[in-house]
Amino acid sequence: MSIHIEAKQGQIADKILLPGDPLRAKFIAENFLEDAECFNTVRNMFGYTGTYKGHRVSVMGTGMGMPSISIYARELIVYYGVKKLIRVGTAGSINPDVHVRELVLAQAAATNSNIIRNDWPEYDFPQIADFGLLDKAYHIAKELGMTTHVGNVLSSDVFYSNMADRNISLGKLGVHAIEMEAAALYYLAAQHGVQALGIMTISDSLVNPEEDTTAEERQNTFTDMMKVGLETLIAE
Ligand code: HPA
Repeated sequence: MSIHIEAKQGQIADKILLPGDPLRAKFIAENFLEDAECFNTVRNMFGYTGTYKGHRVSVMGTGMGMPSISIYARELIVYYGVKKLIRVGTAGSINPDVHVRELVLAQAAATNSNIIRNDWPEYDFPQIADFGLLDKAYHIAKELGMTTHVGNVLSSDVFYSNMADRNISLGKLGVHAIEMEAAALYYLAAQHGVQALGIMTISDSLVNPEEDTTAEERQNTFTDMMKVGLETLIAE
């Protein structure tokens, strides 16, 4: 076991879906995986391994924000040998053409965090998705009929930001949405030579605040996003 994950070696598949919310990990295990077994309950950060269409896959919550996902993703990669990591989460749109319930595939992630800057102060080191996963996810999402945007997101350290206007103005530079984890996940993937992708459903719009979703609509779009994530994980 590692410091924050109590699984034994071999209990975690080399492909994993990473929702922020551990209860969503439980939902995915119960609704999409066969023979799912729980491998982690430490801090209620539930993780499960089962099979999806005959392929062994895992799903585990990461918590919110880059410090939290960095802990789990690093332990999954370094201690448990995970090679493909797909974050499935929500994001707030900062682009008037990106609407609630639509999908954003984070081709890259800008960040206001110091996580990367601390290591590389003299570079603007871009955080990018694995192209193979991105390419597969895009085609799978299109086939499922989902409106899908591919591009930059902002991974922010702050949800209730005092700099909201500045963050929103990044929309004018083509940044689609704000979320809180992708840049750290991509940085870890780069450090350890593994594959990572962030898939986000737009849950709210910071530029069209009147756009809203019902609980049922949110559940349906999240379910579609989970399918895109799982199909991408198992695609050859
Ligand atoms: N900001 C940051 N993270 C988010 C948001 C947001 O507006 N919406 C969903 N995740």
